[in-house]
Amino acid sequence: MKLILCKNYEEMSEKAAFEIAELVKKESKCTLGLATGSTPVGTYQRLIDMYNGGELDFSGVTTFNLDEYYPINPDNDQSYDYFMRKNLFDHINVKKENVNIPRGSAVDPGEECNRYEELVRTSNPVDIQILGIGVNGHIGFNEPGEYLHASTHITDLTESTISANARFFESEDDVPKKAITMGIGTILRAKKIILLANGKAKHNAISALLDEKITSDIPATLLKVHNNVILICDEEAYYG
Ligand code: PGA
Repeated sequence: MKLILCKNYEEMSEKAAFEIAELVKKESKCTLGLATGSTPVGTYQRLIDMYNGGELDFSGVTTFNLDEYYPINPDNDQSYDYFMRKNLFDHINVKKENVNIPRGSAVDPGEECNRYEELVRTSNPVDIQILGIGVNGHIGFNEPGEYLHASTHITDLTESTISANARFFESEDDVPKKAITMGIGTILRAKKIILLANGKAKHNAISALLDEKITSDIPATLLKVHNNVILICDEEAYYG
């Protein structure tokens, strides 16, 4: 795993946006794997700035998001569908038909998981997958536990994730208790993975990631089996 240690959130965002921008400039029909949460917002803002400056064209780019709450309507301002539009898609020229996010409003979540997994597997492989990391070490919504899932699946959110995400909702009770998420195998199909982490709260998860062991108790440690992962993190996440 390659490490890029940054002074702060701004530098982390800048470095991540640079990696994505290089790819989009070189391969106009590339596929990006995208994440939600507060971590990638600065990266998306940098990409929007570059787009506005005429440096980037997203018209040929395809995107796959990692996960979505379940059940949730895409118009709900807490849905990841809404988040992506507000923080990126509404501000760049990516085509609506090239954007893929698990459907939190699907009637049959199992069917939706199969549809999404099939779509990821039959499309061009993700060139760069952006990941955040949970305080509990989750990636996507692959939560710590005795075992992990390989494919896209519906999962119960852990108490730790529900309380970490409660800040976006009116109360903790309003946080959906389930989500549809790419599995570890789905994520590892990406050609290159960029994991972003900032802030002291992520230090324990990052320490475990940099340690030798792989454990389902810290799902991000599974990334160690991939041969093209870049960890871009700030000093607080790295040193604690
Ligand atoms: P955050 O979430 O970016 O809001 O910290 C990351 C995650 O839970 O994967």
